Amino acid sequence: MSLFIRGGTVVNHDHSRRADVLIQGESILAVGTTIEPPLSADIIDADGCYVMPGGIDPHTHLELPFMGTVSADDFEWGTKAGLTGGTTMVVDFCIPDPGQSMLAAYQDWRRKSEKAAADYGFHMAVTSWSKQVFDEMETVVKTYGINTFKHFMAYKGALMVDDDELYNSFARCAQLGAMPLVHAENGDVVARMQEAMLARGIDGPEGHAFSRPPEVEGEATSRAIMIADMTGAPLYVVHTSCRQSHEAIARARAAGQRVHGEPLIQHLLLDAGEYRSDDWDHAAACVMSPPFRDKSHQDSLWAGLQSGSLQVVATDHCSFTRAQKRLGRGDFRKIPNGTGGLEDRMPLLWTAGVGTGRLTREEFVAVTSANIARILNVFPRKGAVMAGSDADLVVWDPAASKTIQASRQVSRIEYNVFEGFSCTGGPAVTVSRGRIAWRDGELRAEAGDGRYVERPAFPPVHVANSTWKAITAPRAVARDMVTP
Ligand code: URP
Ligand code: ZN
Ligand code: ZN
Ligand code: ZN
Repeated sequence: MSLFIRGGTVVNHDHSRRADVLIQGESILAVGTTIEPPLSADIIDADGCYVMPGGIDPHTHLELPFMGTVSADDFEWGTKAGLTGGTTMVVDFCIPDPGQSMLAAYQDWRRKSEKAAADYGFHMAVTSWSKQVFDEMETVVKTYGINTFKHFMAYKGALMVDDDELYNSFARCAQLGAMPLVHAENGDVVARMQEAMLARGIDGPEGHAFSRPPEVEGEATSRAIMIADMTGAPLYVVHTSCRQSHEAIARARAAGQRVHGEPLIQHLLLDAGEYRSDDWDHAAACVMSPPFRDKSHQDSLWAGLQSGSLQVVATDHCSFTRAQKRLGRGDFRKIPNGTGGLEDRMPLLWTAGVGTGRLTREEFVAVTSANIARILNVFPRKGAVMAGSDADLVVWDPAASKTIQASRQVSRIEYNVFEGFSCTGGPAVTVSRGRIAWRDGELRAEAGDGRYVERPAFPPVHVANSTWKAITAPRAVARDMVTP
């Protein structure tokens, strides 16, 4: 099976050039201007289009049991939604039930993900600390190929871990060559603020936003950064939504720490005004954590992407139907937290980023695929249009236009938080490991086409961190004991 993509401009994170792409089986065989395609090759005409690495969404929750229900898009429909919008890989969060072993949770996630239509990997969540967790983390890294561990600093009474647990787990990550991830919000303060809102009679979705102000996220981000520094671990802050959190990350990077920040497409484009809607369902549809922020925070997030202090745009795709959201009528604390975005991230970011000059095409590739492929240690297998890379790519038509409508989406829910947004630029063809997965409105990928992607530990980053830590470690002062 070979595919020949002719006449496009290949865009990678570091350069663009006019080139054809020859795909053989599941990989890219050659990129250049003098390639002769085999007679049997299927030809894709990419004239006027950009040929870019398929998007990688490193933050999804497909079929996640959460807040008394299960997120509506499973691995089949979540990955199909992604392919429709040019995303060819997702990394989902494997979250053990309370008391469940990580190894059992991993098996559950492997079972659920068998029906994925595109490639996928996992992060593993640390939701408590024990000798068992310490031991299992090694198996997770060395046997399962998972090099990232997620920590929730919020969701008190459910997933939240405290500073002591963070310290233990981050130190273990440093030993194993793994990277800690944090959902950074001060869960103790959120819980108190939630009670305060209800005491004031605020029980609607706006109470969700009022009880999680940006300061709560900024403080937790700074705290996680400090703990990562003390333990010598790098750090990845998921869903960075506000100026306070971005500034904490930028300061740490300026001080030489390896810290990464991930704004979501939702926080870049939607704002807290949604919670003032007099339509409860509309406001509840937008309930996620952290909540949408005042518009002023968006400028900070865009600037972070432009300057490189924030590196990745994700979705945190965690969709719930209207009926599921209504579990929280009368008490905003019970509204399942989460919004969708897998299908729309790439066209929206192109429109609002490249279309406005905030991002170059190369920067678009960097923040949608190449940077996260490097951060997660799967580059250049993923995140590059390069000979030897997996043939995950998107033929991007800058003139394609679309208005987002829930009635036409692949996602299994009946609304879309981006309803009515117009996009200019979108995929003409999505290729997933050498096969045409989506073309001109027709979804060809099938359940089960995706493969699990293992991600090895990151020795170079950890060797650098631990070498520096050893050189700068505190030392006892040698003193001659003076006898009286
Ligand atoms: O509201 C959100 N973000 N739901 C998914 C779980 C999480 O916190 O990432
Ligand atoms: Zn989160
Ligand atoms: Zn709205
Ligand atoms: Zn999430």
